[in-house]
Amino acid sequence: MTANEPYPWSAGFRSLDEEHSYRVEDVEGELPARLRGSLFRNGSGRNALGGKWFAHWFDGDGMIVAVRFDDQGIHFQNRYVTTRNHRDETRAGRILYRGFGKMVPGGVLANAFRPLANVSNTSVVLEYGRLLSLWEGGPPMALDPATLRTLGMETFNGSVDAFSAHPKVDPETGELFNFGIDYGARSTLTPYRLNKGIVTRLPVVDLPYPVMNHDFVLTRRHMVFCLGPIVVDTPLKVLLGLRSFDKALRWDGGKPTLILLVPRDGSGKSRIIETEPFFQFHFANGFEEDGALTMDFARYPDYLTIGQALRDFWKSEWPADGMAALTRLRLDLASGKVDSRTYDTGLANEFPTINPKRIGAPYRYAYILCNPSDRRHGLQQQVAKIDFETGTVRRHEFGPDRYPGEPLFIATGEDGEDDGVIVTLVFDAARRLSELVCLDARDPASRPVFIARLKHAVPLGLHGTFTSRLF
Ligand SMILES: [Fe+2]
Repeated sequence: MTANEPYPWSAGFRSLDEEHSYRVEDVEGELPARLRGSLFRNGSGRNALGGKWFAHWFDGDGMIVAVRFDDQGIHFQNRYVTTRNHRDETRAGRILYRGFGKMVPGGVLANAFRPLANVSNTSVVLEYGRLLSLWEGGPPMALDPATLRTLGMETFNGSVDAFSAHPKVDPETGELFNFGIDYGARSTLTPYRLNKGIVTRLPVVDLPYPVMNHDFVLTRRHMVFCLGPIVVDTPLKVLLGLRSFDKALRWDGGKPTLILLVPRDGSGKSRIIETEPFFQFHFANGFEEDGALTMDFARYPDYLTIGQALRDFWKSEWPADGMAALTRLRLDLASGKVDSRTYDTGLANEFPTINPKRIGAPYRYAYILCNPSDRRHGLQQQVAKIDFETGTVRRHEFGPDRYPGEPLFIATGEDGEDDGVIVTLVFDAARRLSELVCLDARDPASRPVFIARLKHAVPLGLHGTFTSRLF
């Protein structure tokens, strides 16, 4: 441990400056015969400049990881998204642009009227043959999925500005839904529908006050948002360079969480139902059935603990108290009555995922990162599988000083919702290396299907996507 790396997980945030492309030779176990395709992931690859950590985890530069599963085995590649921020700050070796938390040295004058730089670091989605690298506050960056070369910013002929990092693809229609929030004197949420590269803007929703929102639920009828009272106080102070975006965020527990239902076909009015305040980054899924809306998500009591941990990332002890619990919320659509329950997935629940074929439909299984209930601090070391039908939870423990990332479900058969594997990148703090670990989704508690050891560490990242296409 050093002052710059006070905890085992601190080293997991270390930048990876090199760009690699190689066959992974060190594989223990067998690649399933039906695991073929490309896994793309995104996350902050560079979290420091000139030996100084950035102010916030979300300031890091987007780095794409591509893992290709083919008949020869596993191929690994990582490449930075060529944003203006990455290009110019690499050249200068110092901070030139504002970020989520980072400010340009030089006080108010150096920051006033400077927009936040698009670092394209949050997720990726395949859309109409292209790979889009996503960031919440601006348009996506288009990449060539075969080489990961950046093709340029994609605004869809000027129709997209803020384009969030959690688009949902309807597995039946193939349509992609997403949204963006634009802050100003009037703060608005713009829902989008994207089909074969064509964007349709759905009616814009005026927000009663400027809030940060990261994800949503797609049902067969609605886009559903839970707008917790994490208020941007105020967009003007951010614009004037008086505050970073992060420092402008204020938890206002006196306000409700607003459940916003937007008709996804663009017809009819959106509806807001107020409920007690809570915060979430991520939903597992949701659906409408028998006049009720059901949503599963990692629910935080507020933004206080998680907000501070994200700010401190490398030096946070990542306390479990105040972090999220896997929660099912049921909303009666006629009466507006809200009920909720939690599941026995331990502490510090984050990155819930499902079989993407079940998006918007009734479903049985979710996968989530968590820690056992006696582990009071530290990043997550387990992946849990939840059976919503029986309430059963099964966990995989990765062991001392090993920290998995988002557990992605990949179908490897047609025989039911959990006929597949869970793939996650695990940071091994003792060895300072990362591994790709594959679990059997039917029985994640058992020995991994395979472990593929990389030649280096991959910084702890955010989200990914899988396609059966090989690029
Ligand atoms: Fe996210």
